[in-house]
Amino acid sequence: MEHTEALSRLPSLLLPWYSENRRQLPWREDREPYHIWLSEIMLQQTRVEAVKGYYTRFLTALPTVEALASCDDDALHKLWEGLGYYSRVRNLKKAAKVVMERHGGVFPREYASVLALPGIGEYTAGAICSIAFDLPTPAVDGNVLRVFSRLTDDPTPIDLPATKKAVTQALAAVYPKEAGAFTQALMELGATACGPNRKPACESCPCREICLGYAHGTAEALPVKSPKKEKRQEDRTVFILSCGGQYALEKRPSSGLLAGLWQFPNVSGHLDTAQALARVEAMGLLPRELSREVARKHIFTHIQWNMKGIYLEVADTGGNFQWFTEEEINTQAALPTAFRLFWEEREHV
Ligand code: ADE
Repeated sequence: MEHTEALSRLPSLLLPWYSENRRQLPWREDREPYHIWLSEIMLQQTRVEAVKGYYTRFLTALPTVEALASCDDDALHKLWEGLGYYSRVRNLKKAAKVVMERHGGVFPREYASVLALPGIGEYTAGAICSIAFDLPTPAVDGNVLRVFSRLTDDPTPIDLPATKKAVTQALAAVYPKEAGAFTQALMELGATACGPNRKPACESCPCREICLGYAHGTAEALPVKSPKKEKRQEDRTVFILSCGGQYALEKRPSSGLLAGLWQFPNVSGHLDTAQALARVEAMGLLPRELSREVARKHIFTHIQWNMKGIYLEVADTGGNFQWFTEEEINTQAALPTAFRLFWEEREHV
């Protein structure tokens, strides 16, 4: 990168702007590494507004790394229910155990030890070490890549690993001693004036005077991204089986998509009504009344599920399922969003 001179002005432009304009967010109230770590994991793929409530609830239930390390898996999944990407919370617990067992319960302060924890990649390690410990470790995510590609008027696709590496290096060279504030200022700029999916608000940007994208009129057309791969489409039939106020759930396998979470029984393909009733009988249940069928889709990272939900009252609570009351589903069973869609619509039956 040949922009070091302009970039060296970034801290003096961004830090005063950040201290004036920073949003008050729950994870900005202290610099406890556990809190920063949790917030950064939650904020991956999830909007700030959605994270706020989850963050506070999680820390009320599990206020320390020790509490997280020994938390029951079902309770942990329930705290994450609806956030998606559940491997994030499984890795949080794994890492908490490593902190307890290998670091005597104290969150490590060196970048390499933080990076070695399960579920912590370069972005998260950089964010934790800079925000919690003021180490000069950049945290380069999609927002920072967008800001950077505009600042340097660089049309290289931001999703290439080489781009991330170059941006990390260029930023590391200009990190100020207020590293935590600088990391968050970059994030803040990428979330506000230089935000995604809209025209950049250059008139309110503190970096306008060093921004090549602004100078060349290219900021709005940046960043460039490689074409997206098509998602795999999968048809599924989901059975919402009820019997006198109880509902049939089963646990998903302990590895793969939505590992270890609860689900309504479901099968591959779209079954017609006769096939569906036959399938329920094959599960060892006697169908009484089919009340409704609805079509819903849910999009995961690489797959899209096109689901047909069938609401069916059955004669008794048999089959290879666990039967939950409404109260138990609401308070104990972590039902991922793909299935919760059908749960939330049951009233309209
Ligand atoms: N996005 C990722 N990390 C963030 C943070 N710490 N504050 C606000 N938005 C973020």
